Amino acid sequence: MFVFFWVTLLFSVWGSKANTDMLAGGKQHCTNGFCVTLSEGNITADTGHSVVIPCSFTTIDDFTPLYILWFKCSPSKIRCEYADMIFHSNKNNRHAQSILQSGFQGRLSLLEPDVSQRNCSIMINDLNESDSGSYQLRLNGVRRGTSDIFTFPLRAIVSVKDVKKIEITGDRSVKEGETLNVTCSVDSFPPSFITWTKYSEESIQNVTGDNLQNNTEMDTLFISNVTTEDSGQYICTAKHLNNTLMEKVIVNVIYKRTPLLTGDTTVTEGETLNVTCSVDSFPPSLITWTKLSSNTILHNNTGSASLVISDVTTEDSGQYVCTATHLNTTVTLHADVTVTCLLKILSSSRCEVQSEVLTCVCITEGFPLTTIKWPLLESHTKYSVMTTVSDHTVNSSIILSVKDHGYTEVECVASSDVGEVKRNLVIIKTDQEVGLLRHHGCYSGVLFWAVAGSSISVNVLFIICILGLWNARKKVNPNEENRTYMSLQKPDPSSEYEVIALRQN
Ligand SMILES: *[C@@H]1O[C@H](CO)[C@@H](O)[C@H](O)[C@H]1NC(C)=O
Ligand SMILES: *[C@@H]1O[C@H](CO)[C@@H](O)[C@H](O)[C@H]1NC(C)=O
Ligand SMILES: *[C@@H]1O[C@H](CO)[C@@H](O)[C@H](O)[C@H]1NC(C)=O
Ligand SMILES: *[C@@H]1O[C@H](CO)[C@@H](O)[C@H](O)[C@H]1NC(C)=O
Ligand SMILES: *[C@@H]1O[C@H](CO)[C@@H](O)[C@H](O)[C@H]1NC(C)=O
Ligand SMILES: *[C@@H]1O[C@H](CO)[C@@H](O)[C@H](O)[C@H]1NC(C)=O
Ligand SMILES: *[C@@H]1O[C@H](CO)[C@@H](O)[C@H](O)[C@H]1NC(C)=O
Ligand SMILES: *[C@@H]1O[C@H](CO)[C@@H](O)[C@H](O)[C@H]1NC(C)=O
Ligand SMILES: *[C@@H]1O[C@H](CO)[C@@H](O)[C@H](O)[C@H]1NC(C)=O
Ligand SMILES: *[C@@H]1O[C@H](CO)[C@@H](O)[C@H](O)[C@H]1NC(C)=O
Ligand SMILES: *[C@@H]1O[C@H](CO)[C@@H](O)[C@H](O)[C@H]1NC(C)=O
Repeated sequence: MFVFFWVTLLFSVWGSKANTDMLAGGKQHCTNGFCVTLSEGNITADTGHSVVIPCSFTTIDDFTPLYILWFKCSPSKIRCEYADMIFHSNKNNRHAQSILQSGFQGRLSLLEPDVSQRNCSIMINDLNESDSGSYQLRLNGVRRGTSDIFTFPLRAIVSVKDVKKIEITGDRSVKEGETLNVTCSVDSFPPSFITWTKYSEESIQNVTGDNLQNNTEMDTLFISNVTTEDSGQYICTAKHLNNTLMEKVIVNVIYKRTPLLTGDTTVTEGETLNVTCSVDSFPPSLITWTKLSSNTILHNNTGSASLVISDVTTEDSGQYVCTATHLNTTVTLHADVTVTCLLKILSSSRCEVQSEVLTCVCITEGFPLTTIKWPLLESHTKYSVMTTVSDHTVNSSIILSVKDHGYTEVECVASSDVGEVKRNLVIIKTDQEVGLLRHHGCYSGVLFWAVAGSSISVNVLFIICILGLWNARKKVNPNEENRTYMSLQKPDPSSEYEVIALRQN
C-alpha cells in the first residue's frame, strides 16, 4: 500500500507543471493542480513565544483531503522524511502519533481542525531555537476511491532567535585619559531598543541602534579622555517587545597618584613610630617597607602600609624605604627615622676645687647630641675645655684657675634640638693630692680613649702631651698673653670622640 502511495506521488511530481504566484499575504505555489499558499520569506520569532505558520491549500477536484501532516527538516534536505513528521491530524492513528518527533508534542496545533476548510495553518507554542527550520505540508486523502497522498514542495521557513543574550564587547579597563569604547548588542527581531545608563545616576546615553539589516542592535558607550569619575557600574538595557534585558558592566579606570608618606619620622625613645606610605591608585599598589640596605620586608600591604615600631630605641633610627608597585612600575620613597632620647644632665656631673684650680665635669645624655655650655667661662679668659662624645653621652670638662673667687656652684647648660636643661654643680673643696681632674677629667678621659680604640691612640697621646704642657705653662706664667687654640677633628667619622679644644687667651 505504501509503495502504491509513493508511486502516485512520484508520478504527480514528475508530470508536474509547477507555477508560483504572489498572493496577498503569501506566496502560492502550484504543482499538478495542487496549490499551497505560505507566507513569503522567513517567519521569524523569539524563543519562548508562539509562531503561526499561515497556510492554505487547494487540490484537484477528485482529491478529497482527509488528514493534514506536517514535517520539519533542514532546508538543505530535498525532501523531509517520514522520521521528520511532527504532526498528523488523525489522532486515532496510533502508529502515526507514536512516531511524531517528541519535541513538538503538545506544542503544535492546527488553527482550523476542519480539514475540508483547506486551512493548514499551524501554531507552535513555547518556541525554542531548535524549532528553526523548514516545514513541509503533506495531505493524506482519497482519490477515485483509493488512498492517496500529496506532498507540497514549497516549504515554510521559520527562524527562531534567542533574544536573551546581550553581548558586551570592548575593553572595560582603560587608563586615565584614554578612550572607553564598550558596545552592547542584542541579536533580535524586531530590533531592540538599547540604552546605556550609569548605575544610580541619570541616564547618560539613550541611543537606538540603526543597524537593522542584520537584526543586530548595538549601542556604544563611548567616553574619550576618561577620568576616575567615569569608573563605576554601567547598565545596558535592551527592550525587545515585552522583554527587558539588562547587563551590568563594571568599568575600571586605571590610574596612579603620587605616593605619600605621612606620620612623624622623629619619635622619642619608648614611643611608637607610625609612618604610613600610601598610593591612591587602581588597581591598588603593593606597598612594602624595608630598612635601607636590607631586603627583609618589614611590612607589606596594598594601597597603604604603615611602618609601626612600638617602644622604639635609638637603634631603630635610620632610613626606611617604602616601595610602591603599581602594575609594572615601581616607585620608592625614603623615610629618615630619628629616635630622640630625653636630654638630661647626669648626677655624676660635679665640680671640685683644689689648690685654686677648679675642675668641673658635666655629663649629658640625649639624642640628638647635646652642646654643653659653661656660663662661668664668659667671665674668664683662661681655661681649658674638653669634650668627649660617646653614643648619646656628651662629657664636657673644664679646668680653670679660681683664685680669689667665691664660687660655691657652677652652672652647666646642655642644649640640643629638642630642648635645654641646666644644672648647678656644687663645688666640693678638696685638699687631697688626687683631685677630680684625675678621676673625672682629663685622665678618666684618657682612660676612656685608651679603652675606646687603638686607632686613635696617637692623637690621644698628643692631647695628653698638650694638656701637660698647658698645665705646666699655666703654673709658671699665669698671665701669659699668648693665645693657643687647638681643635682636633675626628680622625675617622665613626670613632667615638669628636672635638677636643684647648684654649688660652
Ligand atoms: C531564511 O532562513 C534561512 C535559514 O535560516 C537563511 O539561510 C535565509 O537567508 C533566510 N532568508 C531570509 C530572506 O531572511
Ligand atoms: C530546545 O529543544 C530541544 C529539542 O526539544 C532541546 O534539546 C533543547 O534543550 C531546547 N532548548 C532550550 C533552550 O530549551
Ligand atoms: C485559517 O484559520 C484561522 C483560524 O480560524 C484563520 O485565522 C485564518 O484566517 C485562516 N486562513 C485562511 C487562509 O483562511
Ligand atoms: C570602538 O570599538 C569598535 C570595535 O572594537 C571599533 O570598531 C570602533 O572603531 C571603536 N570606535 C572608536 C571611536 O575608536
Ligand atoms: C532614555 O530612555 C529612558 C527610558 O526609555 C527615558 O525615560 C529617558 O527620558 C531617556 N533619556 C533621554 C535623555 O532621552
Ligand atoms: C551586522 O552589521 C554590522 C554593521 O553593518 C556589520 O559590521 C556586521 O558584520 C553585520 N553582521 C552580520 C552577521 O552580518
Ligand atoms: C583630559 O581631561 C583632563 C582633565 O579634565 C584635561 O586636563 C586634559 O586636557 C584632557 N585631555 C585631552 C586630550 O582632552
Ligand atoms: C506584550 O504586552 C502586550 C500588552 O501588555 C500584550 O497584549 C501582548 O500579548 C504581549 N506580547 C507578548 C508576546 O507577550
Ligand atoms: C598608624 O597610622 C595610621 C594612619 O594614621 C592609622 O590608621 C593606624 O591605625 C596607625 N597604627 C597604629 C598602630 O597606631
Ligand atoms: C606580603 O606579606 C604576606 C604576609 O604578610 C606574604 O605572604 C606575602 O608573600 C608578602 N608579599 C610580598 C610581595 O612580599
Ligand atoms: C607595562 O605593561 C604594559 C602592558 O602590560 C606594557 O605595555 C608596558 O610597556 C609595560 N611597561 C614597562 C615599563 O614595562
